[in-house]
Amino acid sequence: MESTLTPDAALASLAWQIELGATEAIGDAPVNRYDLPDKAAKPAAKTDTATVTPVIPTPQAKADPLAEAERAAAAAPTLDALRAALAAYPHCDLRRGARNLVFCDGIPAARLMIIGEAPGRDEDIQGKPFVGRAGQLLDRMFDAIGLSRGAETPGAALYISNILPWRPPQNRDPNADEIAMMRPFMARHVELANPDVVVLMGNISCEAGLGKRGITRLRGQWMQAYGKPALPMFHPAYLLRNPAAKREAWADLLALKARLAGRA
Ligand code: URA
Repeated sequence: MESTLTPDAALASLAWQIELGATEAIGDAPVNRYDLPDKAAKPAAKTDTATVTPVIPTPQAKADPLAEAERAAAAAPTLDALRAALAAYPHCDLRRGARNLVFCDGIPAARLMIIGEAPGRDEDIQGKPFVGRAGQLLDRMFDAIGLSRGAETPGAALYISNILPWRPPQNRDPNADEIAMMRPFMARHVELANPDVVVLMGNISCEAGLGKRGITRLRGQWMQAYGKPALPMFHPAYLLRNPAAKREAWADLLALKARLAGRA
């Protein structure tokens, strides 16, 4: 098709797009390049560059990832809807490198909800939180106070989730923006599961729930997070690297047990 654009008009159109904030030339619809192997292999058809109509992106207000996270989380009436809202949330780039969305394990009716940091390799593969080495230690720790993710009664069960539902590349720490955009989802997650008590496992979980880090100082002190009594604890991955800290972790587990029994 013959373009009616003159070089001057094409330049003016380009300047207009740049003024609107366009930084890349992309189409209106995504292109699956894996569907076009032959075209890439064939010699390109002769193209008269002067006749190519420039792509004009649809002007749209720049999305605010935090506002969208708040809106999507607040609109979810159930845990299944919240999981679907996370699956549809496009602004966290971690999702691109992850195999699975890791949402929860255990039973949502549990009186205790454990909030970890982010999935690692095993969790990414299985789509469940805390199933690797740290998860096995977590299971043993809570077993020791009579709680497990396999139990069916709310008083004996655990409900487990993570701040980040996608594995960060090379297990790096999530950055402040990634934590901030996931926080509304976790706040809604806690609201919907409605546990009596939450455990904040490690620094990332403390940053999201309390707005501060410093697990060595914070652990063992009852705080409020997401509107619930919250106990920061050493992350089991930290305990694997620092077995001497299991002493404090045991004290925290006993404090948790006493709190759930109404004794503290
Ligand atoms: N560490 C976490 O914080 N969460 C997991 O699911 C696994 C390891």
